[in-house]
Amino acid sequence: MKILAISGSLRQGSHNTELLLAAAAGAPAGVEIELYGGLKEIPPYDADDDVPADQPTAVEQFKAALREADAVLIATPEYNSSIPGVLKNALDWASRPLADCPLRNKPAAVLSSSTGMFGGVWAAAETRKVLGALGARTLENTVSVSKADQRLA
Ligand SMILES: Cc1cc2nc3c(=O)[nH]c(=O)nc-3n(C[C@H](O)[C@H](O)[C@H](O)COP(=O)(O)O)c2cc1C
Repeated sequence: MKILAISGSLRQGSHNTELLLAAAAGAPAGVEIELYGGLKEIPPYDADDDVPADQPTAVEQFKAALREADAVLIATPEYNSSIPGVLKNALDWASRPLADCPLRNKPAAVLSSSTGMFGGVWAAAETRKVLGALGARTLENTVSVSKADQRLA
């Protein structure tokens, strides 16, 4: 089973990326968790650039990676009580056209972490909401790691 891991944080040393790498390291036999590294290359969503069969390369690559995965695991920080723009932007690209969305019926799970007291619970909830809009089969349970700078250091 192949799980595509997507971090909502681009920075080196991200606690959320760290969570995904820990999940990959602890994956049971037969489960491969692969970290997606191309989120930064995805351009801002522009409907004028959203042309079927002529999408930006980074978008095509992201959609192909989603399509090839059996499931998706997202770990996200919380930015201003919501989803980081870079993650939402990637999901917006993936959502069009909705009928062909590679996340449709795809099993998905969401983790979050932040340096605050609540571990990004709102970002996790909003990410689940967006995945639901895209038709993913998203686990109800999330794991949110608070005070990530102390607990994941
Ligand atoms: C623009 C911005 C907004 C943030 N807003 C929140 C917030 O609303 N709630 C929260 O708990 N943490 C917030 N944080 C703190 C991040 O969640 C924290 O830095 C987290 O560790 C970032 O994730 P990363 O380590 O994966 O990069 C914010 C950080 C940034 C840069």
